[in-house]
Amino acid sequence: MCGIFAYIGGRPVLITLITGLKRLDYRGYDGAGVGLVNPQTKEIVIAKQAGAVSILEQYIQASCRGSILDKSSDFTLGIAHTRWPTMGAPTTQNTHPFFSNDKQWCVCLNGIVENSSKLTEQMMKEGYTFESENDVEVIAVLLEHLSKTYPDDPLSCFVATLSVIEGAYALCVLHASEERIYAAKLSSPLCIGIGDNEEKFLSSDPIAFREYTENVIHFDDNEICIISKDSFSVHKFRPSEGLEKDISHELRLHRTVKIPFSLDELELGNYPHYMLKEIYEQPVAVQRTYSGRIGPTHKSANLLDIKITLPPQLNSIVFLACGTSYYASQIGKYIIERETHIPVRCEYASEFLTSARLFNRQDLVIAISQSGETADTREALLIAKRKGIEVAGLVNVVGSQIARIAGQGMYLHCGAEIGVASTKAFACQVAALIIFMLYLKKHLSSIRVSGDITPAHTPLLEPSPSFPSPQPNQPSSSRLFDPPVTKDVNGQPLEESIVRVCSALRDLPVLMQHVLSNTTTMSTIDEIVAFMKDRKSAIFLGRGIGYPVALEGALKMKEISYIHAEGYPAGEVKHGPIALIDEDMPVFFIVSASDSVVLTKIVNNMEEISTRGGKIITVTDCEPTNSDEKVQAQLKRVRSISAYTISVPCSDLCCSPILFTIPLQLIAYRIAVEKGINPDRPRNLAKSVTVE
Ligand code: F6R
Repeated sequence: MCGIFAYIGGRPVLITLITGLKRLDYRGYDGAGVGLVNPQTKEIVIAKQAGAVSILEQYIQASCRGSILDKSSDFTLGIAHTRWPTMGAPTTQNTHPFFSNDKQWCVCLNGIVENSSKLTEQMMKEGYTFESENDVEVIAVLLEHLSKTYPDDPLSCFVATLSVIEGAYALCVLHASEERIYAAKLSSPLCIGIGDNEEKFLSSDPIAFREYTENVIHFDDNEICIISKDSFSVHKFRPSEGLEKDISHELRLHRTVKIPFSLDELELGNYPHYMLKEIYEQPVAVQRTYSGRIGPTHKSANLLDIKITLPPQLNSIVFLACGTSYYASQIGKYIIERETHIPVRCEYASEFLTSARLFNRQDLVIAISQSGETADTREALLIAKRKGIEVAGLVNVVGSQIARIAGQGMYLHCGAEIGVASTKAFACQVAALIIFMLYLKKHLSSIRVSGDITPAHTPLLEPSPSFPSPQPNQPSSSRLFDPPVTKDVNGQPLEESIVRVCSALRDLPVLMQHVLSNTTTMSTIDEIVAFMKDRKSAIFLGRGIGYPVALEGALKMKEISYIHAEGYPAGEVKHGPIALIDEDMPVFFIVSASDSVVLTKIVNNMEEISTRGGKIITVTDCEPTNSDEKVQAQLKRVRSISAYTISVPCSDLCCSPILFTIPLQLIAYRIAVEKGINPDRPRNLAKSVTVE
């Protein structure tokens, strides 16, 4: 959601800025611009265009011949921006960077200036004019205005400007008379890469400079950075107190980390789109998530490399997430509750503000995020942390804000996810949640083995036949779930059940590969795509663990194929949505063989839809080879009711959502391509949503 990039060094600046922006355009592709300082004339030059970075590039090539941009080879610094609009339509005028009225200042920002209306009004009263509807222009104007108070002191002017703006930002500023870049961070991500010969790159994401250096420092909130060709200084900043001492040396020493992916990972290779590449990378990605975390052999129940401190009296687990990550959390809830009996709540991070008061210190709050930058998730996590609640994170991007705030948890290690629609991160989130479930199992049993049974594990009071009245003396810390389980849902001893799931996880990449290379599946997908591409709506239904899979399938269909799709619990359809069913309504069913009770019920739900003319598309792991007679009987029914059936291999129930999701991702991707939609750049979306 908006990407900023800045460069200072010996490379051709314009090309370096455009190359950096291209790497960032997954963050927004509604406008792109660059601002450079001409060191000879002490002028700032800006070029900007509505649309993707490629449009800006064409514009520069076509319209700037002979202009100063064409002669920019001796320029040494510039700032750049790719836009996802929060305020102001996606026009060239509203695209960053923004000039001050005197053209001495130039600003790019990722985030939002919440008090922009008030500040703009004040500046207009002072006689300044505005060219855009964008909230960021006022920062450039403020810099000009405050430079009257701080003549010849751009740094003080920058600091004074930061003291009056409210909101969330990562911003870069140029002043015409200086070969320096000023940058600051509050809530939005900002990092610096330092390459050979002291060249420096500022960016929202290290992806933008991975080809030049592998060293990155992620800034914290309220840090200000000033870079020039041969210097780099960083200060803590408090609006009321101004700048603290230079901490750049300390940062270089203690906060420089290696970017955890190679340049090759950022390239498309032979794939037409990142989304397809990432769908096909899933088997390897999942393997990376579990590698080093589960024991190396099929007999081993070791869980390595996981350190998540649980509250001493664990009451419940709360997941905070958005979008696809939220659906992964719902799968986590299902798996954890089923396998450990620990209560789990999934909260939309954006709704957390209203429910935060219901948490207590016996909860463990876990943020789940691919990017580690999603503003809603970050803010919700901060609320929990400030309340003194134990927090953790399941995050993909190493060193990201959510990872740093959480301070403990698991990285997904699924590699860079560039396609705007999350695919491999979802698979790896589910894999990480399975490992976390195993960790919980292991933790509960070890407490029991040591005989150290804390009040957290005392049984619940006998349930009352009617609604229980509140227990006045019941300490809020007592744990409200069943005594620790000694056997799993299949009656297997705990240790054996851990081995069972570890073993299923280890076998999963091969099964995923099987789905991705199965020719029958691919030709059924061809038929489904032909059938679906001109449809306006679809319904996705599942029960139990199939329900969040249905939600994720519907989300992929909406965001990539622009087909309205609704995910629903299959059993709920008869309570309302069934009114939508007719012969024009395609209905996707996720049918899991793992639970025979659920299986019978969902096949009944399929009959209800079929009777009303709905066209059924089924994804199931009821395999023809399954020896269970009940499954065989249901499979017969499933095949006869469904217009199209995709079979995925049968795995452990915990792992099955990952297998079910692959065909749904491929269907959404293929429909998008058929409709001429670029699946990597769906309209109105951006990958990292860094505003609330
Ligand atoms: C959908 C998608 C989004 C993200 C959501 C959270 O395909 O990608 O719904 O899942 O914006 O993002 P993260 O996981 O980065 O917090």
